[in-house]
Amino acid sequence: MFHLAWFTNPRAHGWTANGSDRWAGNDILPSSWENGSFLVDLARSIERACFDFIMIEDHVVLSNDKQNLEPRLDPLPVITLLAAKTEHLGVIGTFSSSFYPPFLLARQIASVDHISAGRAGWNVVTSSEDWAAQAFGNEKQPPHDERYERADEMLDLVKQLWDAWQPDAYEMNEETGRYVDPSKFREFKFDGKYHKSIGPLNVSRSPQGRPVICQAGSSPAGRDFAAKHSDIILCSSFGQNSVQVLKDFRDDIIKRVIGHGRDPKTVKVMFLISPVVADTEEAAQHRYQEIIGMTPEILKQRLGRLTLHTGHDWSKYDLDAPLPDIDPATFTEGFRGITEAIVKMAKGKTLRAALAEQETTSLKLIGTPEQVADQMEAAIKEIGGDGFLMHARPLTRRYISEILDGLVPILQKRGLVRTEYKHQLLRDNLLEF
Ligand SMILES: Cc1cc2nc3c(=O)[nH]c(=O)nc-3n(C[C@H](O)[C@H](O)[C@H](O)COP(=O)(O)O)c2cc1C
Repeated sequence: MFHLAWFTNPRAHGWTANGSDRWAGNDILPSSWENGSFLVDLARSIERACFDFIMIEDHVVLSNDKQNLEPRLDPLPVITLLAAKTEHLGVIGTFSSSFYPPFLLARQIASVDHISAGRAGWNVVTSSEDWAAQAFGNEKQPPHDERYERADEMLDLVKQLWDAWQPDAYEMNEETGRYVDPSKFREFKFDGKYHKSIGPLNVSRSPQGRPVICQAGSSPAGRDFAAKHSDIILCSSFGQNSVQVLKDFRDDIIKRVIGHGRDPKTVKVMFLISPVVADTEEAAQHRYQEIIGMTPEILKQRLGRLTLHTGHDWSKYDLDAPLPDIDPATFTEGFRGITEAIVKMAKGKTLRAALAEQETTSLKLIGTPEQVADQMEAAIKEIGGDGFLMHARPLTRRYISEILDGLVPILQKRGLVRTEYKHQLLRDNLLEF
């Protein structure tokens, strides 16, 4: 069996089928996502389909491409709302280790864990954009590996804060009038290289103790951080359609998890996918061609997005010539995984061809619901791994229905995915298989 989850942005979803950031109209209007009602519909629908969790993406500022403005909501109130409107679904928010004081974030996530009765999680990102640093009063972001070092120290502190309360701290003794037993929490002083704080937290131990940690780093520093701290490790091959890439990623993660003295069975590796499902194979192939198709305008937008994620101007390269030799580790302080994927995809081809492929996330899953179910089953058999994180391109109500009413019942009938929730806590559902 494998796990299913859904990854979405807390913003409008009207972008064109080919993944550009060009508004193309959609039935999900600003009023329905800004008041949260669309996201509640989505969360309830995937809960009916027994998904393990919903993960809400975040970037702390607008993209600095003023032509394609994307207002959004803050993930914290969104996951709190979704927790209140569902019963079993895990609710995971993305929060940047660069901008939240550890004490504040530890208490916020512990609070959502209480409100959701043990279903909260944190997708840890480090944020690369200097534009974001400026919004928070700094001039620029620290270099790539230092951001992970800071995040590593933050996680050590946050875990200590979450662990500071014992589960049985409430004494509630009417005779003595004592509500909380002061011997049941640990006071401490944390004096790190990057963070200073004191414990305990002012939120008691939450149902999971430590809410679920997710991470999606792809560079060596990112993978190592994920292997040390995460319950769920997310993998995208950023467009490289290759079982081998995902297999290598998973093998490397397992080695690193063991290296940190952890049991790999307790860490779930999940792959980002965007299946293209339609009533006939021809219709699905036609939709896929639309997704990878590029007009000059879309090409410009993709170059803009790549520039944003990598902090490097890609428009200076010849689109129809091979890329010069680029080493992601020295080339960018931004996302290195995507740089590496573009370089590999352009090998023997061109930057233009790589940009077309790049929109398809990891595996090519295209066809009727039965065919896509076959492809997912075969992929998990070959790669190993623990499941898939769906990311719609573009997200429409029709897409949601194609996945939840078309594909998922077939996977359920084959006994490949969950048909009921057996546990209250998100972590227990994750560890069930
Ligand atoms: C499934 C998935 C979800 C991600 N979500 C976010 C996000 O919400 N916000 C963000 O700033 N980065 C996000 N990222 C980027 C990663 O956190 C990471 O920076 C990126 O994969 C590059 O890895 P590296 O920093 O180790 O080079 C996501 C990546 C993946 C694969």
